Amino acid sequence: MIITSCGNSIKLAKSLARKLKAQYSPLTISSFPDGDIYLKYNTSVKGKKVIIVQSFHPSPNSSLMRVIFAAETAKDLGARKVILVAPYLAYMRQDTRFHAGEAISSRIMAKLLNHSIDKIITIDPHLHRYKSLKTIFTIPAVRLTANSVIAEYISKKFDRAKTVIIGPDRESYQWAESIAAKTGMPSTVLEKTRFTSKKVRVKMIKPIPLKGKDVVIIDDIISTGHTIIEAAKKAKSLGAKSITAIGVHGLFVEGLLKLQKAGIKVISTNCIEHTTNKIDVAPVIVEALRSHESARKRLTMD
Ligand code: R5P
Repeated sequence: MIITSCGNSIKLAKSLARKLKAQYSPLTISSFPDGDIYLKYNTSVKGKKVIIVQSFHPSPNSSLMRVIFAAETAKDLGARKVILVAPYLAYMRQDTRFHAGEAISSRIMAKLLNHSIDKIITIDPHLHRYKSLKTIFTIPAVRLTANSVIAEYISKKFDRAKTVIIGPDRESYQWAESIAAKTGMPSTVLEKTRFTSKKVRVKMIKPIPLKGKDVVIIDDIISTGHTIIEAAKKAKSLGAKSITAIGVHGLFVEGLLKLQKAGIKVISTNCIEHTTNKIDVAPVIVEALRSHESARKRLTMD
């Protein structure tokens, strides 16, 4: 087995290699003067399983292209299997044609990957209108969740009696409710209306006492940060003492300043490398890769 990365998740790829006692082999990736991708393996992959660890942020478009080039090259060089570990999978929010003529980006991304890789493992993909990854992937597609490691972090850092978990929109129940159950903390999920990518409004539909509480807002993606800022405003207006936001995927496309100015402490998992990373998802991925390996061994023995 060799583990590699196309540039975005190098720290995580190296940590997975250490934990799995596998070889981490860096690729050489650069651009020709006209911008074409140049990609080279520096170790033989013949007969090996190649694991590409690559989150699709920053630069989702070039990330996807790099993964396709890396996967196709590995196969061309005789790799036995190519598995993509994409802790953050981009394009998933465009899961329907919201307006006539639009591309359904998630389907196109999946179609390209179906063709080039043998299996995909991802963490908390944005499944909203799709109920499962099987709707778009024809290859084995494993959906992991960071809920257990986020719950562990919250249990260590917050007092159960003084903390409330909030999901900023209806879909976020998948994180908020599960983490609340694991930590034994109360939770509620808000209702969000999005007017533009930068304008959202939230309403509390299931009221819960917040006065004097430490509020932890949990969402799968923090992109511009406006969803979190509005949820924080709502919690503060109801008397919350402190606000912490935890994002599984911290994209922070507008930086951290607005969130910090709003008095929000920001934490993320290392699904995407960022200075706010405090929660390590490596154990979740290692477990999935180990069970893949033992299932394969069982099949070979049968
Ligand atoms: C969308 O439904 C996601 O779960 C997030 O709530 C959303 O992507 C956050 O976006 P932003 O940070 O730009 O408000």
